[in-house]
Amino acid sequence: MYNIIKFETLPSTNKYLKENYQNHDEFTVITTDNQTNGKGRMTRVWNSTKDDLTFSILLKPNIDSSYISQIPLIIGASLCIIINKYIKSEIKWPNDIMVNNKKIAGILVEGITSNKVDAIVVGVGINVNSISFPDDLLIKATSLKKELNKTVDKEKLLNQIIKEFIILYNEFLNGNKKYLNICIENNYLKNKQIYVNNELIEVLDINFNGNLIIKDSNNNIKELYYGEVTLNKVYEE
Ligand code: BTN
Repeated sequence: MYNIIKFETLPSTNKYLKENYQNHDEFTVITTDNQTNGKGRMTRVWNSTKDDLTFSILLKPNIDSSYISQIPLIIGASLCIIINKYIKSEIKWPNDIMVNNKKIAGILVEGITSNKVDAIVVGVGINVNSISFPDDLLIKATSLKKELNKTVDKEKLLNQIIKEFIILYNEFLNGNKKYLNICIENNYLKNKQIYVNNELIEVLDINFNGNLIIKDSNNNIKELYYGEVTLNKVYEE
């Protein structure tokens, strides 16, 4: 059903799959304990230690590229369901998982498209057992071990997540939007005031297209699409 390949070291599991997707089947999972040049969203870096989980899942779906924006929500819902088995987590639309107001996991989905979708690489970084963070991240980031005060079995966690993801992803391909219900029920941003592209807005909900429903500063209700927004100042500092 899926195949996990572990490398001793890699610059980036996403980069590896983007360069090698033709040599691997769908649901190949690439992981390493030593990712040396991890990528975050919007040219950010993703730093991790051997105590954390970094992995990428290869998809080769027969879908229109407009559906790629649903994939972060599907993996986000999977992460939320599984992390909830350990501690209550929430999805910060569209790409982060939060625990106790701090980021515990990040998602980077990259599509490889020609005139169709050739492949999709679903990259995930989870702070699992690391307990020290650089000063600038201390108020923003946490790990499972920090929150639970105990070490978590990374291999078990990885397998739980992949299994849940494959279920929700196959349901999505069959037109079932269960993943969206999970995003709606675990919406970290709901009723929060946040800055989007420098405008203070209020988040109302996530709708059944996976878009964020907001009320802007003039009290107009609007829909925000994946990719068009930069969210800032949502952390309670
Ligand atoms: C973010 O929060 O900005 C997204 C972080 C995604 C990090 C993961 S770690 C595994 C995969 N390989 C990468 O280079 N990035 C993703």
